[in-house]
Amino acid sequence: MIKVGIVGGTGYTGVELLRLLATHPHAQLQAVTSRKEDGMPIADMYPSLRGRVALAFSAPEKARLTECDVVFFATPHGVAMAQAPELLEAGVKLIDLAADFRLQDTAVFEKWYKLQHSCPELLKQAVYGLPELNRSAIKNARIIGNPGCYPTTMQLGLAPLLKADVVDASHLIADCKSGVSGGGRKTEIGMLFSEASDNFKAYGVSGHRHSPETVEQLGKLTDKKIGLLFTPHLVPMIRGMHSTIYARLTKDIDNAALQALFEDAYKDEPFVDVMPFGSHPETRSTRGSNMLRIALHRPDNGDTLVVLVVQDNLVKGSAGQAVQCMNLMFGLEETTGLLHVPVMP
Ligand SMILES: NC(=O)c1ccc[n+]([C@@H]2O[C@H](COP(=O)([O-])OP(=O)(O)OC[C@H]3O[C@@H](n4cnc5c(N)ncnc54)[C@H](OP(=O)(O)O)[C@@H]3O)[C@@H](O)[C@H]2O)c1
Repeated sequence: MIKVGIVGGTGYTGVELLRLLATHPHAQLQAVTSRKEDGMPIADMYPSLRGRVALAFSAPEKARLTECDVVFFATPHGVAMAQAPELLEAGVKLIDLAADFRLQDTAVFEKWYKLQHSCPELLKQAVYGLPELNRSAIKNARIIGNPGCYPTTMQLGLAPLLKADVVDASHLIADCKSGVSGGGRKTEIGMLFSEASDNFKAYGVSGHRHSPETVEQLGKLTDKKIGLLFTPHLVPMIRGMHSTIYARLTKDIDNAALQALFEDAYKDEPFVDVMPFGSHPETRSTRGSNMLRIALHRPDNGDTLVVLVVQDNLVKGSAGQAVQCMNLMFGLEETTGLLHVPVMP
C-alpha cells in the first residue's frame, strides 16, 4: 500500500483527494492536516466520508509526513515549497496542487505569485503533471507541479493543433468559465451565495496567473512564439469548467482532418474524450469524474476553429489529475481509482 499524506485536507481539493483516495485500492491514508481543526474526525466535518475515512485531522507539525510515501499539498501557494526539502530528503514524493513547482522560471513565479521561491534548486527536478503531454517524465518524478485547472483545458484543447502546426500560435484566445469551487472553501464576499449565484462575471482580464503557466507549457509544443489571450469567468455553478478556445487556421485543412488530429492524439487516453465534430459538451457530463471532453467547431467553414473543452475543476482540473500522477509515479495502472462515471443529472 502507498502511505499517503494530505496537507490541507479541509479544503475543496483536499476533500476531493479524500473522496478519491478513500476507495483507491493501493492507497492508505496516513495523515491529513488542518491547522484549524487539529483532532477533529474528518468524517465529522465531511459526513460524505463517514465509514470510509477513520482518521482525524492533525496539525501540520504533528502529522508524521516524513513517514509517508507521497504527500499531496492541497494548500495555497508557498506551503509546499517550504516543506519540500525535508520531505524529499526523507525519500517522500511530493505532489503540489498549487503553483510552487509549475513554473520553471523563478522570476515569472515571483512576479505572479508575489512570493520568493524558497527552493529554486528543486525546480529542475520538478515535473509538470499533465500526463497526456508529459507521461514518461511523471513516471520518474519525485516532485510534481500539478497543473492549474484552466491550463489543463487550454493545453489539451490546443496541443494537437500546435503540434501539427496548423494554427497561428501567436493569436490564441481562450474564453473560460469556472464554477465557484474553483476559488476554494473560504469566506470571501464574492463567494457568498447572494453574490455568486444568479450572477456572471469575468475576472483577471488584464492578467491571470494561469497565463504564464499555459504559455510556458504550450511553448514546448511548437517552435513558434505563443500569444494567448485568456479571460476567466465565474459562473454560478458549484463544480465544472468550460473553455471556449479560438484558433486561426494557417493551413488548408478540412474538418475531417482536424477531427482526425484530435482523435489520433487522444485515442489511447483514458481521460480525454474527443466528441463528434460539432458537439456541444456540457460540464455536467464530467461532474465528479476525471474525464475531460473536447469538441471542434468551424463556424461558416471559415478560418477560425473553435475548440470546446469541459472538465470538473476538482477532478481532472486538480485532485483527479494529482491521483493520476500518483498512479504513474508508483507504477500503477494510470486509471486506478479514477474510473468513476460522471454524476447525472
Ligand atoms: N479549487 C480548485 O478547483 C482548484 C483547482 C486547481 C488547483 N487548485 C489549487 O489547489 C490548492 C488548494 O485549493 P483549494 O480550492 O482546495 O483551497 P481551499 O479550499 O482554500 O483549502 C486550502 C487548504 O489548505 C490549508 N492551509 C491553508 N494555509 C495553510 C498553510 N499555511 N499551511 C498548511 N495548510 C494550509 C487549509 O486548512 P487549514 O487552514 O485548516 O490549515 C485548507 O485545508 C490551491 O493552491 C489552488 O490554487 C484549486
